[in-house]
Amino acid sequence: ERPDSLPRDLAGCSIVVSAGGTRESLDPVRFLGNRSSGKQGYALARLAVQRGARVTLVSGVTAGLEPPAGAHVVQVTTAEQMQDAVRAHTATADVVIMAAAVADFRPDSMAESKIKKVQDEPATITLVQNPDILAGIVEQRAAGDLPATRVIVGFAAETGDEHGDVLTHARSKLQRKGCDLLVVNAVGEGKAFEVDSNMGWILRADGGESALPLSSKNLMASRILDAVGTLLFTG
Ligand code: CTP
Ligand code: CA
Repeated sequence: ERPDSLPRDLAGCSIVVSAGGTRESLDPVRFLGNRSSGKQGYALARLAVQRGARVTLVSGVTAGLEPPAGAHVVQVTTAEQMQDAVRAHTATADVVIMAAAVADFRPDSMAESKIKKVQDEPATITLVQNPDILAGIVEQRAAGDLPATRVIVGFAAETGDEHGDVLTHARSKLQRKGCDLLVVNAVGEGKAFEVDSNMGWILRADGGESALPLSSKNLMASRILDAVGTLLFTG
């Protein structure tokens, strides 16, 4: 669709979107990272601008994506930096969308000089937990600290395992996280990471579920913003 044919249904609305992956340094030349390309979050930010929203894009590391025209872009590297940047912009946001792949753990300290392979002994890396940015926002809102924030959106990339299928894991994640919408991507061979299309569901806190058929990340973005708009204007 051409941008000038899109509805301006998000006019006057302020949205924070996080995108891309975080990186946690081990030493000056190495890090723990992930395969997030940032494409889904960037597509959301771009489309939200086109639909009239004021958009802050808190961007971790991406596959060299162009910043979306009209969005305020804040670049970060680590999960802690991402939390600071998201927090700095949430107070005035109507909507927060956590599309970023945030590292769950970071090395407990960064070596100041390059870690060497001493006598072929592998170095032991001790990890500590990163803050859960999404859970923090949900908590702040529950405490009454984010009166403007009406819609909080989380993302989950899930595979089935011996404990349950993709949807089972996703439903319990929605409960655990306490967000209003959870966008679920079914991942596996060739799905979701580094590709242009996704397959999954949008789960609502009230139990509503809609399937997201295999489609481009732009079309996914449009369906996600439709669901956000429904909560903003009717919910
Ligand atoms: N998230 C976050 N901060 C973290 C980890 C995750 O804000 N430290 C957000 C992600 O941006 C995403 C949602 O939480 O919107 C779900 O992330 P996910 O990694 O699926 O959830 P986890 O609770 O970390 O569960 P898992 O053990 O499956 O990784
Ligand atoms: Ca995680």
